[in-house]
Amino acid sequence: MNSLRPIQKRALALGINLEALPKHLAIIMDGNGRFATRQGLMRLWGHRQGYQTLKKVLLSSANLGVDYLTVYAFSAENWRRPEDEVSGLMTLIEEAARHELKGLRENNVRVRVIGRTHEVPLGLQEAIREMEETTSLNTGITFTLAINYGGRAEILDAVRGLLAEGADPATVTEETLSGRMYGPDLPDPDLMIRTAGELRWSNFLLWQAAYSELYVTDATWPEFGDEELLKAVVHYQKRTRKFGGLG
Ligand code: FPP
Repeated sequence: MNSLRPIQKRALALGINLEALPKHLAIIMDGNGRFATRQGLMRLWGHRQGYQTLKKVLLSSANLGVDYLTVYAFSAENWRRPEDEVSGLMTLIEEAARHELKGLRENNVRVRVIGRTHEVPLGLQEAIREMEETTSLNTGITFTLAINYGGRAEILDAVRGLLAEGADPATVTEETLSGRMYGPDLPDPDLMIRTAGELRWSNFLLWQAAYSELYVTDATWPEFGDEELLKAVVHYQKRTRKFGGLG
């Protein structure tokens, strides 16, 4: 009992079964802009607050015992935002990648990035490469950042890859296609959390989330914390996952 971490003790107190946690948690971190605007501040300030939340949620997820955390940092559609917000986000993600390198290493986090990363600024591409390389042998939580990611684009890229190789349609299976996704070795998410209340998928992990349980909270991403995280897990454990069967 004493070897339990504080967040695990809190989880137990809420009735959470630590043996049945979601192995892979995916998060749509929405509401940074609204959080900032409500306080009369710039949207980019909201994104900075969101970055602080992300650090905390990553550590909490790891300490709780989640094996994979995947977050939507920048969607393929986010380029449509005003130029200063786009460049501000790119700079923030690059700064974060460089600044957190030491902490990620010390916390045994393995970082992965999924998305069309060849289209992001060169400085960010370099920071991504360094972060992935430096942490590739780590054995703790696998933290995947979706950057310039779109679910449809991912499926399209997978199909294009198969066509380019002249794959025989008769031999293409769901497993073949899964193996062509940006993170072929990542398991499908068990639980998908969306903050800031919208009931939408927003093109996130379309292929992989076929049987994920969805949890939506009204809290904006900067307001999200351990209490919300644990609440989502409580809800998750109340669901019966049937995968199309009878459970
Ligand atoms: C959605 O809020 C959030 C994003 C588009 C970006 C998520 C980015 C971060 C959490 C910042 C840091 C990330 C890293 C990896 C350092 P929104 O802008 O759509 O909010 P709104 O719906 O209220 O406008």
